[in-house]
Amino acid sequence: METQSKTIFEQFLAPLFGQLIDREALLEFRNSIDWAAAIAAIANPQVTYPDYYQHSNFHGIQNGYLNIDAAITYDPITQYVLPPGETWVRDSLVKAIQGQPRRILDLGCGTGTTTRLLKRQFPQAEVVGLDLSPQMLVVADHKARAESLDLTFRHGNAMATEWPAASFDVVCATLLFHETPPVVAKTILQESWRVLNPGGQLLVLDGNQHTLRSVDWLNTIFEEPFIRAYGQGNLDAWLGYARFEAVRTQDVFWLNQLSTARKPLPVSPAAQASVAKSDLEMPDVEGDRPPAPAW
Ligand SMILES: C[S@@+](CC[C@H](N)C(=O)[O-])C[C@H]1O[C@@H](n2cnc3c(N)ncnc32)[C@H](O)[C@@H]1O
Repeated sequence: METQSKTIFEQFLAPLFGQLIDREALLEFRNSIDWAAAIAAIANPQVTYPDYYQHSNFHGIQNGYLNIDAAITYDPITQYVLPPGETWVRDSLVKAIQGQPRRILDLGCGTGTTTRLLKRQFPQAEVVGLDLSPQMLVVADHKARAESLDLTFRHGNAMATEWPAASFDVVCATLLFHETPPVVAKTILQESWRVLNPGGQLLVLDGNQHTLRSVDWLNTIFEEPFIRAYGQGNLDAWLGYARFEAVRTQDVFWLNQLSTARKPLPVSPAAQASVAKSDLEMPDVEGDRPPAPAW
């Protein structure tokens, strides 16, 4: 496997995961796919890779996610890093979706594990996964076909997708933002706002920012180049900045958090006029004002 030498990942975690991973099965899987053909079939030649993505060694692996070995080892490793259990953590997002969405977009879908859970939960919905890594998408597509799940995977950048505005009822992202510089995360949130229908729901499942701020070694152990900056940030504030409303973040066990938010419904001109009128009628006297907040 192509790995950068002497990373923490290689020194400590790779030997540990090496014990847990069935190397024979992985090799068999790797050899069962014609990668050149599969990548050519899924890759969009128009896609250009942002600098942070091309030049960062995510998890200590050279070329990060643009690498076959990263794609085939992703699932076997990820199952061990989402306590108390991978499906339980991912289900926290799926179960927080309200109503019956017709179109769902999974940004940074990777090997499509959450994408598959979404389709199983909402079989009537069109579920689309988007990722910048053709290698990860090849694995995602392979898994969906093996389960006969009707999923669509697209190669593209979540910062600027090609969908028209108001295309989806639900947009979600699982384990994406700790992998991006905060400025990229904020741009992706703005793009999510754009492609969501008014009243549509956004869900972000990722590392718990409070835990990452309090337990520093977590920021170094997995060789994530942007995780410290992500942990120092505040997803609620980023969502507010991107004009989302009903923003709420809750812990998912101690290592993860789930944020939910909505794109506001448009306010009709009649409602705007009535609010403006009642503002005008409000007597501006000291006694009518709410008390000043204590802070
Ligand atoms: C840690 S993986 C998470 C994959 C998957 N969502 C999951 O929960 O297992 C992060 C994924 O985000 C993708 N990614 C990073 N930046 C992206 C961007 N700007 N647009 C689309 N995908 C991106 C990577 O290629 C990678 O597959």
